[in-house]
Amino acid sequence: TDTSVRSVTCQASPNIALIKYWGKRNEELILPDNDSLSITLDLTDMHSYTTVSTSPSMACDTFYFEGVLQTKLSSRMQKVLGEVRRRAKDMQNQFVEIRSQNTFPASSGLASSASAYASLAIALTKLFNLDNPDATAAYLARIGSGSAIRSVYGGFVRWSSEGECLSSCLFPMEHWPDLRLIILIFNPSKKPVSSTDAMQRTRETSTLFSARLATVNDKIEKLIEAIRIKDFNTFAKIVMMDSSQFHAVCMDTYPPVIYLNEQSKHLIDLVHAYNKTDENGAMKVAYTFDAGPNPFCFIREEHTEEFLRLLKYIYPTVDNNVHKHVANSDAKLPSINV
Ligand code: PMV
Repeated sequence: TDTSVRSVTCQASPNIALIKYWGKRNEELILPDNDSLSITLDLTDMHSYTTVSTSPSMACDTFYFEGVLQTKLSSRMQKVLGEVRRRAKDMQNQFVEIRSQNTFPASSGLASSASAYASLAIALTKLFNLDNPDATAAYLARIGSGSAIRSVYGGFVRWSSEGECLSSCLFPMEHWPDLRLIILIFNPSKKPVSSTDAMQRTRETSTLFSARLATVNDKIEKLIEAIRIKDFNTFAKIVMMDSSQFHAVCMDTYPPVIYLNEQSKHLIDLVHAYNKTDENGAMKVAYTFDAGPNPFCFIREEHTEEFLRLLKYIYPTVDNNVHKHVANSDAKLPSINV
């Protein structure tokens, strides 16, 4: 056995954007057109694990996904390794083995690329003892998969579009202990247009896009304040409006990029109708959709059971895929039969 094998395992979780990243001003370095803000899920059973190993006896880079040897490394992965080789003097002539695993299914509606690249970036940074570890891990995650940079941190995370385009944690998840997340899976299949292609097309054709860019930072500042004081009404309104604006920009792209489906639109109406039922006119639920039809619904603990009952009644045929996110670190993720 080769005793000189060095190995590091790291984990990271998926994140959900509250203010969407859409548009790259630099394709190669994945520098975003706008700041974005997300929540990194704090779930015990929703992680990506990546183990990176290196030893002088390795003859090439290898990649195992869910235990299965892949024929080649993706170009994004090669880009990440290229950057590590540039930074790590002792890696010049050494190869690595990457083993990546998710504790949640690809069909869960959550992009696993963010957690996968974040865990890979952190693991490589540790294995090769790279300088300035936080910024380096963020950089590596970003060039792997843009939004993965936000999964390098837990809690509420902002990804800046300025300077070095780093991410930072604004509040830990425990900051808002009664905030919950319900994920409905209307369609688990892969998106029809990749976010990379769609973003490019938006930049080339959408006139609404520049209007969006002009308003994003103001929305982010207002959202941060709403999170700081746990003002769910303001939080809900900003989150829903940003989701809709992002999808409007996609629709304004030519040819249009349509991620929402009939069920998504139905859910939007349902949430607004449900929000009207509060005696004091307060918001109960907020939806947001990434580049897909599956809604992420933010809700406070006090309304969770009631809303889940409503969902079961309205969507009896939706698979038993409704996930309830509890923001405590010891929380489980029950599968609820609807
Ligand atoms: O990082 P990508 O290329 O998967 O793009 C993600 C884009 C959205 O999910 C739609 C928004 C976001 O900020 O995560």
